[in-house]
Amino acid sequence: MQIFLDTASVEEIKKALSFGVVSGVTTNPTLMSRESGASFKDIILKIAGMVPGPVSAEVTAHDAKGMISQAMEIVGWSDSDDFRDRITIKVPMTSEGTSAIKELSSRGISTNCTLVFTPVQAMLACEAGATFISPFVGRIDDSGLDGTAVLKDIVSMVRTNGYVSQIIAASIRHPAHVYGAAMLGCDIATIPLVVLEQCFKNPLTDIGIRKFDEDWKKFQASQAPKA
Ligand code: E4P
Repeated sequence: MQIFLDTASVEEIKKALSFGVVSGVTTNPTLMSRESGASFKDIILKIAGMVPGPVSAEVTAHDAKGMISQAMEIVGWSDSDDFRDRITIKVPMTSEGTSAIKELSSRGISTNCTLVFTPVQAMLACEAGATFISPFVGRIDDSGLDGTAVLKDIVSMVRTNGYVSQIIAASIRHPAHVYGAAMLGCDIATIPLVVLEQCFKNPLTDIGIRKFDEDWKKFQASQAPKA
């Protein structure tokens, strides 16, 4: 399972890239609102210059025409083929959204259908030709359902029907969500930095490192030349 970072913060991306496990980034208007100073365009171009893989930028129009026009503007922010290949237009799961996804996909533009909460919504996004679909696991939990169980149904629906859309487990709140997504065979999980950092931690790893340090010191002491 690939790991994307769920953030618009350049500092967070810099830190997460140093871990050697992050291959893409997803942003949304809420994540953008936490950044100050730079414009949407500047932030997206900066992020695209940092990460090796897909970078999702979300449209805010509610009608397909407006979404397509915003998408074409974003895609035109750089004339490099690499940017055009990796910039991914995030489109909400509505009938206007699937209409925009269909058109963008026919123009060879990568899309990420966001705010997916049910297997039927996921199926519609796949039918429209979304490159990625993003089920919101944490927000499904918030609604009183089991987000990972719904994700399981979505993975099963996509694989059973032979859809090629890649599944991004989104709205990840804790390492158990990451565990569930990986065990279900999701293509990608998009993870906030704080959760990604938690994923590395295990007290047995810390205890193991301390024990190896102590034993290595003992071994080195035993190697010292005898007086
Ligand atoms: C990613 O694509 C989503 O926008 C994001 O994961 C939403 O997460 P949240 O539910 O924690 O806001």
